[in-house]
Amino acid sequence: MGECQVTMQIRRAIEEAHSRLKKYASITPRAVLSSFVFLFVSALVFAGWIHTSIFPGPSQFSIFTTSKAPDIPLKCTEWNMTRTCPVNYTTKQTHDCHLHHHKPGNECPSYFRWIHEDLRPWKETGITKDMVERARPPAHFQLVILDGKVYLQKFRPAYQTRDVFTLWGILQLLRWYPGKLPDLELMFNCNDQPLIRSKDFPLPKSGPPPLFGYNADRRTLDIVFPDWSFWGWVETNIKPWRYVLKDIEESNKRTTWSYRKPYAYWRGNPFVGKTRRDLLKCNVSEKHDWNTRVYIQDWGQESQQGFKHSNLEDQCTHRYKIYIEGWAWSVSQKYILACNSMALLIRPWYVDFFTRGLVPLRHYWPIRDNAKCTSLKFAVEWGNNHTEKAKAIGEAGSRFIYEDLKMELVYDYMYHLLNEYAKLFRYKPTIPRGAVELCSEAMACPVSGTYKKFMLDSMVRSPSRVPPCSLPPPYDPPSFEAFVKSKANLTWQVEKWEDEYWQSVNKNSKRQ
Ligand SMILES: *[C@@H]1O[C@H](CO)[C@@H](O)[C@H](O)[C@H]1NC(C)=O
Ligand SMILES: *[C@@H]1O[C@H](CO)[C@@H](O)[C@H](O)[C@H]1NC(C)=O
Ligand SMILES: *[C@@H]1O[C@H](CO)[C@@H](O)[C@H](O)[C@H]1NC(C)=O
Ligand SMILES: *[C@@H]1O[C@H](CO)[C@@H](O)[C@H](O)[C@H]1NC(C)=O
Ligand SMILES: *[C@@H]1O[C@H](CO)[C@@H](O)[C@H](O)[C@H]1NC(C)=O
Repeated sequence: MGECQVTMQIRRAIEEAHSRLKKYASITPRAVLSSFVFLFVSALVFAGWIHTSIFPGPSQFSIFTTSKAPDIPLKCTEWNMTRTCPVNYTTKQTHDCHLHHHKPGNECPSYFRWIHEDLRPWKETGITKDMVERARPPAHFQLVILDGKVYLQKFRPAYQTRDVFTLWGILQLLRWYPGKLPDLELMFNCNDQPLIRSKDFPLPKSGPPPLFGYNADRRTLDIVFPDWSFWGWVETNIKPWRYVLKDIEESNKRTTWSYRKPYAYWRGNPFVGKTRRDLLKCNVSEKHDWNTRVYIQDWGQESQQGFKHSNLEDQCTHRYKIYIEGWAWSVSQKYILACNSMALLIRPWYVDFFTRGLVPLRHYWPIRDNAKCTSLKFAVEWGNNHTEKAKAIGEAGSRFIYEDLKMELVYDYMYHLLNEYAKLFRYKPTIPRGAVELCSEAMACPVSGTYKKFMLDSMVRSPSRVPPCSLPPPYDPPSFEAFVKSKANLTWQVEKWEDEYWQSVNKNSKRQ
């Protein structure tokens, strides 16, 4: 019996009791009243019990139980025979009476507020067909959702499997919240760089093209969306997010903070951007020890050797972990923050959907981009002098990842973003000419190997039993400004400590 039906039964029982109460109230009011109260209370307890023990709620892994047969099976036999998507793919199903009721106190993490900021350029004008069409040239694909079905038109191939796993993720969202996604149409850019420059579209009424992508910066208006790696990154053997989280969590238990190496650590590909090559200079050498240890990740070699040396869970061995951007934002940030080590964030230029919720000195330690080595040396020395504080920053950063970025909330972010986006539509989308219907069968049935494994592992096997978190309202302009300012202030504070430290070091070395 679904939770929804149970709720309905309870409601009916209460209504019945209520009518009986009315009928007999004139005879023995007190006795009936107390029995009604009893019934009511037990109904509540029953409902509460249902909630806590049968349906474990949105805890980390309960919803993706892989042992049980899925409620929404992958119908590959049918797909292979007919090459058509199942009829009832993700149209309305049970549980939906439940989804309308937002639980009080179930507010989304504060970074969800940026959904309103990202959509602000269309607040006055709405979104017209013409605007969407203007986002076509830079897009890799166009996606239409109509009556819960998904239609895809691909324009050009994306790098590696970015588009494939992004599309897979959207299909899983529709399995997670079946019948809950509004009709919409969107253009998606799978490249690193955001493209819609705000200076070309002065607000409030210029109507920029709405283009979805993985990140944005201060100069662009691209709408940020979770990247493909949440469903797996085949080329680097990085598993779907919930598996990686579990692996890193296990490894964190094995290596406690104080036993980790007291240095800043980074491993990655330095050839994707000048700033990363710059970081190599901070590696320990005969002349200098900047408290920093950096290693080059050779993905070609790794893939030949079966990814033996690139397991993310084996990289939580140092007390401090460096995050540095590549061509643009890097998917590595969430893995780095998950380690329980204090994250050293080299001043980022780009933002993705969740990083806007991170606060310096609470979740991470800010590092200068234009003086990396001295900044890193100071940060590590400060941490080793203040181990409790450094450990607490590391833990808070990881808590943010485990609590505010669990997979359910990634889906909730997508859900709210797409809902708010669709509210702005000034036209009814239609199926584009040449588009094909897309469903999980069409993507997962024909593939094999790691593709298939990652798809099956990240497949949503039954609809959510709880409603999405409730979207917080937009920031009002003063509190928005205060939030941005306080982050800048905290970063500035660290830079001031750093300057004072180096001044005193230099003074002492001159004196000697
Ligand atoms: C469907 O076809 C693919 C190959 O295209 C095959 O690998 C798979 O086993 C088939 N599945 C079923 C259930 O027939
Ligand atoms: C499709 O949904 C209808 C009602 O929602 C149901 O009666 C029917 O059995 C479903 N068909 C399949 C193939 O699941
Ligand atoms: C950095 O230094 C360590 C320790 O000497 C060394 O093992 C590593 O290869 C160096 N990294 C680079 C990129 O040179
Ligand atoms: C760390 O402690 C040492 C010894 O007390 C001190 O000389 C040094 O300046 C401190 N460094 C930082 C960054 O706090
Ligand atoms: C910045 O931080 C300092 C010290 O933490 C505080 O005194 C100051 O008022 C802050 N300034 C702003 C603009 O928030």
